[in-house]
Amino acid sequence: MLRAEIIGVGSYVPERVLTNFDMEKFLDTSDEWIRKRTGIEQRHWAAVGQSTSDLALQASQDALKSAGLSATDLDMIIFATLTPDHFFPGTGCFLQEKLGVAGIATLDIRQQCTGFLYGLSIADHFIRCGTYKKILLVGSEVHSSGLDRTTRGRDVTVLFGDGSGAVILSAKEVRNPEKDSFVLGGELHADGRGAKELWVPAPGSALGRADRVDHEVLEAGLHYPQMNGKKVFIAAVTKMAESLTNCLEEHGVTVQDVDRFFFHQANLRINDAVAEQLSIPREKVFNTIQKFGNTTAATIPLGMHEALKAGELKKGMLVALAAFGSGYTWGASLLRY
Ligand SMILES: CC(C)(COP(=O)(O)OP(=O)(O)OC[C@H]1O[C@@H](n2cnc3c(N)ncnc32)[C@H](O)[C@@H]1OP(=O)(O)O)[C@@H](O)C(=O)NCCC(=O)NCCS
Repeated sequence: MLRAEIIGVGSYVPERVLTNFDMEKFLDTSDEWIRKRTGIEQRHWAAVGQSTSDLALQASQDALKSAGLSATDLDMIIFATLTPDHFFPGTGCFLQEKLGVAGIATLDIRQQCTGFLYGLSIADHFIRCGTYKKILLVGSEVHSSGLDRTTRGRDVTVLFGDGSGAVILSAKEVRNPEKDSFVLGGELHADGRGAKELWVPAPGSALGRADRVDHEVLEAGLHYPQMNGKKVFIAAVTKMAESLTNCLEEHGVTVQDVDRFFFHQANLRINDAVAEQLSIPREKVFNTIQKFGNTTAATIPLGMHEALKAGELKKGMLVALAAFGSGYTWGASLLRY
């Protein structure tokens, strides 16, 4: 059977590190508050002039190198981001130009923190159908230039970091489904009733104004993320645990069978709660939020790359992924690495 295998993983974070103590200098917050409530100790922020596609280029080249491929081997780019280079066109087009591979398909997806899982499923389906053989899936974000650095926005501003993660998916004829490395499958969900619990209202066509951006919009801070943190927290724990349970059951595997869990990195307490509900041993969950904060669509591939470098992710391991984010969107996937 024709299936997708991850044959390359890469990542990139900007050089500039911003610790919680650095944040104390310009924001009414404290290291103690951030660390206790989220587990975050630091995050990386892009330099002025560094765009989402710039970060993605570095992560993509890293992933291509680890796969032993060059960009000209690719058939398609799937780009997950909520912080695009521009309002339109999609950031995949800008990345494609930077990779120098004009002509191949590019697809931007707007599934926020679940973007990597949606992208994985889309790539998997293109490969299963035999349409494409080599797909670059990249999650990349530059949050730093879009955060409210006043007390009004401090609940959100302390959470997000900039970064990028990428994988290369390749078509593979799976002969031994019990042992071969491939994407086994997964499930995806959304509930638009939660759309305004975590969102950036402007610019947008639904604001009921003659211009997408005007002074009132800017003064009201509608171009900054708005979040109902408590509601999002509860929904994230519930839906990630539910989805992961369904995904494992559907594939006839138990928590004991899974070697490593990579969860979206929004809050260490969310991930600890999911692990506790499902009786997942702490050492099986690979968290990176302490170092990178929430890099949205990049958290899972960035985590996989960190785990590879640390020798915590090895060929043949059974790996489960789960995410929850704005939309609401959520899901889970299972793969043998
Ligand atoms: C954001 C989050 C950490 C806030 O934690 P919380 O325990 O819910 O905190 P609250 O919002 O109740 O705020 C508690 C107090 O801290 C204050 N506060 C908020 N942000 C703060 C900050 N950065 N520094 C210091 N104080 C802060 C609040 O103003 C509030 O003060 P008050 O009690 O005087 O009114 C938490 O709700 C969360 O992580 N939610 C999920 C967010 C998430 O996952 N988002 C991405 C999903 S993909």
